[in-house]
Amino acid sequence: MAMIAHQCPDIDVHVVDLNPERIAAWNSEELPVYEPGLYDVVKQARGRNLRFTTEVAAAIRESNMCFISVNTPTKTHGIGAGRAANLEFVEKCARTIAENSDSDKVIVEKSTLPVRTAESVKRILSSSKSDIKFDVLSNPEFLAEGTAIDDLLKPDRILIGGDNATAIEKLADVYKHWVPNDKIIRTNIWSSELSKLTANAFLAQRVSSINAISALCEATGADVDEVAGAIGTDSRIGPRFLKSSVGFGGSCFQKDILNLVYLCEHFGLPEVAKYWEQVVVMNDYQKRRFSTGIVKTMFNTVSDKKIAIWGFAFKKDTNDTRESAAIYVCRDLLEERARLTIYDPQVSIEQIRKDLEYLMGGVDGQLTDTQRRVLNENVNVASSAEAAAHEAHAIAVMTEWDEFRDCDFKTIYDSMMKPAFVFDGRNILDAEKLTKLGFEISSIGKGEG
Ligand code: UGA
Repeated sequence: MAMIAHQCPDIDVHVVDLNPERIAAWNSEELPVYEPGLYDVVKQARGRNLRFTTEVAAAIRESNMCFISVNTPTKTHGIGAGRAANLEFVEKCARTIAENSDSDKVIVEKSTLPVRTAESVKRILSSSKSDIKFDVLSNPEFLAEGTAIDDLLKPDRILIGGDNATAIEKLADVYKHWVPNDKIIRTNIWSSELSKLTANAFLAQRVSSINAISALCEATGADVDEVAGAIGTDSRIGPRFLKSSVGFGGSCFQKDILNLVYLCEHFGLPEVAKYWEQVVVMNDYQKRRFSTGIVKTMFNTVSDKKIAIWGFAFKKDTNDTRESAAIYVCRDLLEERARLTIYDPQVSIEQIRKDLEYLMGGVDGQLTDTQRRVLNENVNVASSAEAAAHEAHAIAVMTEWDEFRDCDFKTIYDSMMKPAFVFDGRNILDAEKLTKLGFEISSIGKGEG
């Protein structure tokens, strides 16, 4: 929305939220999310044609177009728990729009939604005041965190799904302020909703595919980065999204695939459901393989050993930790009673503790006394990568932050316990250089040769 306001000075954008603290943060110098370049975009438009406010009803009344951009987390209870999307917030938005509208509007689904959600949104809207006309469009977002501003400025495509050509063109006119018309794809509403889930499923599948091969590389002596480089030159495959890692994270991949799996099951397609579910199964395997590898390499015990965790965010250039592989690896290592010192340039200590507590609490969210003690006593947070590694038995790289590449590894080596192990979950460190310094380094998908 900030980008729309930035690129379209003639359009008034009101961003509304029920949470006053969040809105206050959007109106301050400290935005609630860390995203390179976002502050400048917000600053330029805020107070001109971009407003952040809690006045939901007034904003709806004054608008011609409403974007529904609430979260759709995986359901934790009831039918479809663990797979289906929780549409409670989308439905509440639709009801609030219906209650507060006194003129025709275009309603845009920006949240990622299961196929055929537009149908429910339409029914809720049309069941209120019969004289008001709502056109519902699907307009999924394809930006990735960390590169959001660039992705929004130069999108590969804008996708608009709907059944009313006039409404579609109204939304296309917004994007046409800066996106060439041939990049604006118009489809029916179901294709648009399904394309979003499919795009994320294909991207995640590539990561799981290369991660599956990384296990085979380790067993055979092949090098996964060389394999990725070699296959990526095939123009039919392409080089992107072939970086083997400790496992993908983020709020979208797993959620959207599980949602896809649920839809396939719902429509009586168990083979298709199983096929996509395997992408998530492989990702869980990769995370677990990484933590098991640490324990095995460190003489089958990490109990009371200090391990420096470098990075906690699910990827670099974001402070988002949702579904980050780091949380799972830390949980496994804490179960083995390792002492962890975590450093991430953007993630707060409160967030780290909250994430670990949430995962370790399991389905009922209750920590046992032992788990609470381990969390309190065995988790520390450091203010730099070097400080985290001081007197550590091992370093585990969980996020590919650029600053990790440039550390003073000689000093770090001297400050660590010996043998000084490094587990590079992102393959970003110079393994040859580190080996020469004396480190014992394990990278993803690099066999003994
Ligand atoms: C993803 C999609 O890339 C976006 O197109 C989509 O709009 C977004 O989800 C969404 O649905 O909101 P995002 O999760 O922000 O974006 O970040 P990605 O760059 O896709 O990375 C996801 C995870 O995969 C990260 O943990 C990343 O480290 C990992 N990854 C990515 C790899 O392990 N290897 C790769 O080669 C690429």
